[in-house]
Amino acid sequence: MDTPLARPTLPADADGLLKLAAQSMFDTLASTAMGMMVVDRQHRVVWISEGYKRFLPALGHAEDDFVGRRVEEVVPNTLMAEVIESGRPILVDLLTNQAGTFLVSRLPLRDATGEVIGAMGMVLLDHPETTMQPLITKFSRLQRELEETRRQLAAQRRPKYTIASFIGASAAALEVKRQARRVAQTGSTVLLLGETGTGKELLAHAIHAASARAARPFVGVNIAAVPETLLEAEFFGVAPGAYTGADRKGRDGKFKLADGGTLFLDEIGDMPLALQAKLLRVLQEQEVEPLGSNRVERVDVRVVAATSRDLPAMVAAGEFRADLYYRLSVLPIRVPALRERLSDLESLVDALADDIAARSGLPHKGIGPDALDLLARQPWPGNIRELRNALEQASLMTDDLVLGARHFAGVLTDAPAAETPDAAPPALRAMAVGPIKPLPQAIAELEQRSIREALAATGGNKLAASRLLGISRATLYEKLPG
Ligand SMILES: Nc1ncnc2c1ncn2[C@@H]1O[C@H](COP(=O)(O)OP(=O)(O)OP(=O)(O)O)[C@@H](O)[C@H]1O
Ligand SMILES: [Mg+2]
Repeated sequence: MDTPLARPTLPADADGLLKLAAQSMFDTLASTAMGMMVVDRQHRVVWISEGYKRFLPALGHAEDDFVGRRVEEVVPNTLMAEVIESGRPILVDLLTNQAGTFLVSRLPLRDATGEVIGAMGMVLLDHPETTMQPLITKFSRLQRELEETRRQLAAQRRPKYTIASFIGASAAALEVKRQARRVAQTGSTVLLLGETGTGKELLAHAIHAASARAARPFVGVNIAAVPETLLEAEFFGVAPGAYTGADRKGRDGKFKLADGGTLFLDEIGDMPLALQAKLLRVLQEQEVEPLGSNRVERVDVRVVAATSRDLPAMVAAGEFRADLYYRLSVLPIRVPALRERLSDLESLVDALADDIAARSGLPHKGIGPDALDLLARQPWPGNIRELRNALEQASLMTDDLVLGARHFAGVLTDAPAAETPDAAPPALRAMAVGPIKPLPQAIAELEQRSIREALAATGGNKLAASRLLGISRATLYEKLPG
C-alpha cells in the first residue's frame, strides 16, 4: 500500500490559481526568453532582465542610459508604443534593427481596473533565421514555387503569335505586317479578309499582342462552329435565373470575358442576320445585355473580325447587313493567298519545318531544290495550312533528312514523278485520262475526289473544305461517304 505523502497541492480558490499561473508563466518566460523588458504608460523602459543586457552593446547603449529612456528612442523599430496605445498584444512578430533580427512578443500590462499601465516585451529567439531554419526553408520553397507558377501562368497568357510570326518578306507580306502594326496602335475594329489558311487567325493574335491590350484577355469565337440558337448566349451571356438547369447560375458572354482585351470574331460572314443587328449595336454602344436580364453592362472590347467569304458580295445579295459591314471594315486588311507571294515559299517552308520538328520531336527536315520547284508549281487553294499539312505528311513518311520531290508523291496530287506535264487541276486531269464511264458514275466519282482533295487541302477542316467547293457545310456532310 502506498503511504499518502503530504504533497503541495494547487490553491483551491480561483484567484489563487490564477495568481499562481501568472507567476509561473512569468518565471518560465523570464528564464527561457532571451530577454524581457517592461515599459510604463509613458513608454519609458522601467526594467530589463539579465538576459536582455546582452543586446545593449549592439543597440549602442549602456544600462544606465537605456533604462529610463523612451523605448522608441533606444530600440529602433519597436512596436511597444503601439501595444500601449492600442491595448492589444502582438503575440509573435519579427523585429529587425542594427542588433539583428528577433522573434519577439509584446503584451500590454493592465491594472486592477483594466487600465493599460504599460507593456511587457520579450525576445523569444535571437537569430531566428538559424533557429527557425526549417520553417524559413519551407517558406522560401513555397515562395519559389509560387513565383514559378506565376511565371508559367504569365507565359501561358502570353500571346501565341507576334507580328514577327507572320513569315514572309515579299512585298505583299511586308504590307500586311505594316498594316497589322498600324492597326495594333489604334483601338479600332479590324477586318481580316483572305482565303482559308492564309493566316488570319495568326494575325488576329499578333495584332492583340502588339496592342496596348496585350496583357488583357484574347478571346476567340468561331461563329461557324457555334449552333445559331446558342450564339446569342455565347456572345452576350445569360443572366442568373434566366434559364433552369445548367445555366441557372448565369454565364458570362464572350464580350464580358474579353473585357479590356480583344474579341476575335472568326468567320464573321456566317453570322445570322438577326444577330448582326445586335452585334452592330454592341459595337456602337460598347454595352451588352445578357439574355434574360434588363440591365446593360459596359464592356471595353476591341473586335477583330475575320472571314474568307466575299463580304461585299454578301452585302449585295442581302445576306450581310451593309451597316455592319461598313462598321467592321474601318480598317480592312487583305491577307494575300500563298500563290500571290510565292517568293515567300522557301522561308515559309523553313519556318513550318522548324515548327513541325519542334512539335513532333522528330529532327528538322530540309527541303531539296526539286521539291521546292514542285511546291512552287502547286495552286495551294488551302494556302499555308495546306502547305503545312503537305510538309507534315511528307516528313512523317520518311527518315530522310532532306525532302525531295519524290517524298511528296503520295501527298500532292500532281507530285508523283508522273510525267504529267499538263497544268490542269488534278481532278480534271484524272477525268481526261480514265476510260469512258456512264455520266452519273463519272460525276459521282469526280464529286468524291474533289471532296477528298478539298479536305486534304484544308487539313480535314470541313467548313473550309465546303468553302473551297462552293457548297454549304450541310451539303458537304450529306455527300461525305458513310
Ligand atoms: N505568314 C505565316 N507564317 C507562318 N505561319 C503561317 C502564316 N500564315 C499562316 N500560317 C500558319 O498556317 C495555318 C493556318 O493559319 P490561320 O489559322 O491563321 O489561317 P486562317 O486564315 O484563319 O484560315 P481559315 O480561314 O481557314 O480559318 C496556321 O498553322 C498558321 O500558323
Ligand atoms: Mg481561321
